[in-house]
Amino acid sequence: MGWNSWNKFACNVSDELIRGMADALVKSGMKDAGYQYVVIDDCWQVSRDEVGNIVADAQRFPHGIKGLADYIHSTGLKFGIYSDAGSKTCAGRPGSLGHEYQDARQYAAWGVDYLKYDWCNTTTQDAPAAYALMHAALDATGRPIVLSICEWGKAQPWLWGKRVGGNLWRATGDIQDRWEGKKEWSPGDCCSYGVVDIIDAVADLYSYAGPGHWNDPDMLEVGNGGMTDTEYRSHFSFWALLAAPLIAGNDLRTMPPEIHDILTNKEVIAINQDPLGRQGRRVRKDNQLKVDVWAKQLTDGSRAVILFNRGTAEQIIAVNWKRLGIQQISSPQFATSGNTKISASRRGKQQRPCQLMAWQCWQCDRKTF
Ligand code: GLA
Repeated sequence: MGWNSWNKFACNVSDELIRGMADALVKSGMKDAGYQYVVIDDCWQVSRDEVGNIVADAQRFPHGIKGLADYIHSTGLKFGIYSDAGSKTCAGRPGSLGHEYQDARQYAAWGVDYLKYDWCNTTTQDAPAAYALMHAALDATGRPIVLSICEWGKAQPWLWGKRVGGNLWRATGDIQDRWEGKKEWSPGDCCSYGVVDIIDAVADLYSYAGPGHWNDPDMLEVGNGGMTDTEYRSHFSFWALLAAPLIAGNDLRTMPPEIHDILTNKEVIAINQDPLGRQGRRVRKDNQLKVDVWAKQLTDGSRAVILFNRGTAEQIIAVNWKRLGIQQISSPQFATSGNTKISASRRGKQQRPCQLMAWQCWQCDRKTF
């Protein structure tokens, strides 16, 4: 769990911004809720010096990356940075190709705890080999550094990400702040994803996720303004059920209470962080009614459930709890067994029913598992 600069600020990063975000993580209670890593994404780096060392933007980072990392650590948080396996990053800054060990040593000297390693400008490079190389370089420093593989799912990193030392791997193209719809970046260059597109793309990858090696459906857009609060609740709830890394991507200094409450919901975070580390699965899909039922097994044998109405109209979702292995429902609204009819709507005026799908039906006791 953590925060990353890209979704909201893109290349507009600076020492002041990142310190502000670390302070806000602490003040808002997000650190206490479990968010740990503060990650600067692309654009902190400008060039290499005469011996090939990576050089940070001195105007935007006047205290150097070490100064910033020290500050982040002084707040009790961890510090992450971004690079790319190719010759240049996606924003055209120097990549790590040919400098893997040199960069890893530099990161360790700065006190980096997390590296997001991207895949732009890699031409004919082999993805598993490139990520294995950076993992070996990080390993050689002796400092534990989380390796976040950002290869967008092109070479199916769920098949090799764990083997090459990755702790999480992006499974899709970039998320954008919208509910649904893939969009080409430019003609023929596919695609950015909406929340629903990502949910569908990672649905079948559940067997690859587990403690220390996660499918990454990309960072959160909660609070960035493009969706309704209900959609943001659904986005957050799904990321929790999918055992996704929860990396906030909004401006924490100015977030309204509704957004704060979504990002710090303790019950939902507990489901995400459940030590069994299972990614939730779609257990029913009704294309005609446009409803899904999803369930995530938890350590104590109980299930977290999402009743997902994909449509815009209010919908009756009939669930056979027993078939999900649920004998008794803990929430009083659902104190019943067998087929239960629940009215749930994703958006529009039906605010209360909407919430059913993500909140009240979260955790269901199991009696016989
Ligand atoms: C790629 C990644 C994004 C972000 C940008 C930075 O698009 O997928 O998450 O890191 O690069 O340029």
